[in-house]
Amino acid sequence: MNILIFAASHRPASSNRQLAQLSKHWVHGKATSVDFAEYAELDVPLYNAYTSEAGEIPAAVQAVAERVQQADALIIAAPEYNWSIPGSLKNLIDWLSYLKPCPLTGRTALLMCATPSKRGGAVGLSHLKTALECVGVFVYPSAFTCGESHGMLSPQGALTEPKMQQRFDALHTEFLDYARRLKRSAA
Ligand SMILES: Cc1cc2nc3c(=O)[nH]c(=O)nc-3n(C[C@H](O)[C@H](O)[C@H](O)COP(=O)(O)O)c2cc1C
Repeated sequence: MNILIFAASHRPASSNRQLAQLSKHWVHGKATSVDFAEYAELDVPLYNAYTSEAGEIPAAVQAVAERVQQADALIIAAPEYNWSIPGSLKNLIDWLSYLKPCPLTGRTALLMCATPSKRGGAVGLSHLKTALECVGVFVYPSAFTCGESHGMLSPQGALTEPKMQQRFDALHTEFLDYARRLKRSAA
């Protein structure tokens, strides 16, 4: 089981990066390999139909595609922007969806969101789920939402509430089981 983990935020103090780091530590030793990508490593130009239709796929897109291809499963922590997802993340999915075959197809994904608001970013994650399912990603039905993240995450990036930690652990256990089952059934 190879897992690619990233947060869709460039902020050095990103709360979503903190969640992604927690996933990395949780998965460590339970998966064959863990590839933690900084979001800047996944930067790609804006999708441009003129260049893509001329067969010009930017090297940055190819590099991300290869990284996704290596993964069986993805864990993505995405902030909610205006009740949706960051434009940079949608742009990345749009580029990858253009490739034939699409490297995202057949992957499993666990979605997470940390946000200062009470709602926990569930609307944004529903948009992310839609875009990923459109290209054949098996998105795990439950997501990890961390509302009021300033109180829920310590400055060191640990979950402060035991109940949240239990939910995080349980969800990651369920997700790994789901991803393993799907990988086996595809083999
Ligand atoms: C353009 C923009 C739009 C935002 N829209 C929302 C929103 O709809 N819902 C929400 O909960 N937070 C919203 N936020 C606040 C982000 O959730 C908050 O900045 C969060 O900390 C970003 O994640 P990060 O800490 O991983 O960078 C928005 C922030 C920005 C910059």
